[in-house]
Amino acid sequence: MKSLAYGKQWINEEDIDAVMEALRGDWLTQGPMVERFENALADYLGVKHVVVFSSGTAALHGAVAAAGLRPGDRLLTTPLTFVATANVALYVGAEPVFADIDRGTLCMDPRKTDQRLSELPRNVRAIVPVSFAGYPFEIESFRAMARENDAILIEDACHSLGGDREDHRIGFDADMTALSFHPVKHITTCEGGAVATGYTELDRRLRLFRNHGVTRSPDQFKNVPDGPWHSEMQMLGFNYRLSDVHCALGLSQMKRLDFFVARRRELSSLYRGLLAGLDGVYQPPAAEGHACHLFPLQVAPEVRGALFTHLAEHDIRAQVHYPPVPMHPYYKNRFGYRPGDFPEAESFYASAISLPLYPLMDDEDVERVVDCIRDFFKKR
Ligand SMILES: Cc1ncc(COP(=O)(O)O)c(C=O)c1O
Repeated sequence: MKSLAYGKQWINEEDIDAVMEALRGDWLTQGPMVERFENALADYLGVKHVVVFSSGTAALHGAVAAAGLRPGDRLLTTPLTFVATANVALYVGAEPVFADIDRGTLCMDPRKTDQRLSELPRNVRAIVPVSFAGYPFEIESFRAMARENDAILIEDACHSLGGDREDHRIGFDADMTALSFHPVKHITTCEGGAVATGYTELDRRLRLFRNHGVTRSPDQFKNVPDGPWHSEMQMLGFNYRLSDVHCALGLSQMKRLDFFVARRRELSSLYRGLLAGLDGVYQPPAAEGHACHLFPLQVAPEVRGALFTHLAEHDIRAQVHYPPVPMHPYYKNRFGYRPGDFPEAESFYASAISLPLYPLMDDEDVERVVDCIRDFFKKR
């Protein structure tokens, strides 16, 4: 029987040809494919600038560096996310802090965010909500809170490429939006990520940060050029570049992005229909424009482990998203977080199980997963 993972890439012959062509070309890295991929993403998202990075984590790191976060600053985010969202604050010497989720969206709760902002000293320099599972949370109140607190708004949209918020794409609303192209995401470049922004100055800083802080643009030089080879380092950056080979794959995948998102939405609604009326399961929040990266079902915490094992015995490899970040030993030890600090994220985590969801799945695969869940509950 076919093994089902919780997520998986879809690479076709056209993608392979695109990669081969890049490999045969003159540029393996720092060539024309990078800009082509960036332009395709910018057009798709309807934003002015996109800067690609070697991973979504590198993209988030670039975003907090471009925002100017430094020691003494805080970054406010959701506990229900992958550790990278919070870790990037630590990379620049800032402190990550958290506001609990709204169980109705599984995203950062705007009221709790507001409350946290009023409790904390006025040093929150970045607010970083996550469109968890692809849910297009209402962003206007976060924009207002960022404005009032003189903070930058960064949307972690690593789950949400191709999602829509009202009449535009996710990626358009925040000061910066981070994306990931990991194989389980909407398109893949193997590893890869990007930051979208409408601000030319942030774009400039992101590009510098991605390339050791070194620029070759004469209009940006601070030293007097000593020859046509002149380059200069203006900030401390990293090598976070994405190669031309990876960008060629990303560009080829972009051709099918709309189809990938549409298929994810179809599969999610198939799950919803088949699971409706099944006792003991709670469906994930639905919304217009949802990017359908994950299908995080909830069941009673006492049965979650047994259901996970039952699915695995039938070669259905579900996943759990996510252990709340402040509950990881590193965060507990370093910042003194304790169970109960983020009750909504913690109780969601105790009951969560993400079912397989990726465009390559057939309708029959969804039926098989739901049959397996039904069978599990029948036997109990
Ligand atoms: C919400 C979120 N943020 C950040 C990341 C980091 O992205 P990457 O794995 O591309 O570094 C991920 C990856 O899974 C993620 O899900």
